[in-house]
Amino acid sequence: NKVTLIGAPTDIGAGARGASMGPEALRVANIGPILQGHGIEVQDRGNLNGPPNPWLPPDQGYRHLAEVVTWNQLVHDAVYTELSGGRMPILLGGDHCLGLGSISAVARHCRDAGKKLRVLWLDAHADFNTSDLTPSGNIHGMPVACLCGYGPTELTSIGGQVPAISPKWLRQIGIRSVDAGEKKFVHEVGLEVYDMRYIDEMGMRHTMELALATMDANTHLHVSFDVDFLDPDLAPGVGTTIPGGPTYREAQLCMEMIADTGRMGSLDVMELNPALDVRNKTAEIAVDLIESLFGKSTLMRK
Ligand code: ARG
Ligand code: MN
Ligand code: MN
Ligand code: MN
Repeated sequence: NKVTLIGAPTDIGAGARGASMGPEALRVANIGPILQGHGIEVQDRGNLNGPPNPWLPPDQGYRHLAEVVTWNQLVHDAVYTELSGGRMPILLGGDHCLGLGSISAVARHCRDAGKKLRVLWLDAHADFNTSDLTPSGNIHGMPVACLCGYGPTELTSIGGQVPAISPKWLRQIGIRSVDAGEKKFVHEVGLEVYDMRYIDEMGMRHTMELALATMDANTHLHVSFDVDFLDPDLAPGVGTTIPGGPTYREAQLCMEMIADTGRMGSLDVMELNPALDVRNKTAEIAVDLIESLFGKSTLMRK
């Protein structure tokens, strides 16, 4: 198990400044040494160096489109390089617009390697807006749509094939904030969404059993973890807090069940905003959950 940390210090697609400090906060919370303590070889490649945030209003439905494209190209290239070298990339965000570059690279790797791709999108939001639907112009609300081929060509084609993924490969967990137009579009495309109502009624165990079904020995599982997935009482350090998220126990079970599949091949840790955090506690909880994703458990398991 060889892991590479890739920092993407930007808030270029977000509605609040500060996610640019996410990578360093995760390092301060000891993400590298802690994973190493579980017998994983970890290399930290440092931070990507993209354009600064000009902080402008939307232009034709997008904020900072040119800069978002550049950042996503950098992320795509870094993630693709690690996968080609047989390593598992962990993208340290940065806002969630970068999930586009990351997952485009993973999809390309899966095409090269003849692997089946599954994407788990852990988030309070569906991130399925387009320039026509978005209430904000913030591109962190659009990466899933772009991955499925709905968006500007500069973004949809980053991994060399449009669409990068089929909506059928995607499972969204923890969703509780979807904009009006976005909601119709989610239904139209038929995304597999396990929203909070579903988790409340059926429980996290049943939810994850369904979300993780239909994987096999040839599956590459990508986990895109938007930290605002978590309940804000637990994880206040994000720009777009939505109440009523998974508790600590539910989130742990979610991560443990992913680990049990043994199929995770890449990971994004996104939207951590240290400017809004309390003594780095959100970063620490994120690292704690990532340990579970890598198989930490209280007792030995078969
Ligand atoms: N749906 C809202 C928007 O489009 C919020 C998106 C939040 N996305 C995120 N990755 N935190 O602006
Ligand atoms: Mn591989
Ligand atoms: Mn998100
Ligand atoms: Mn979110």
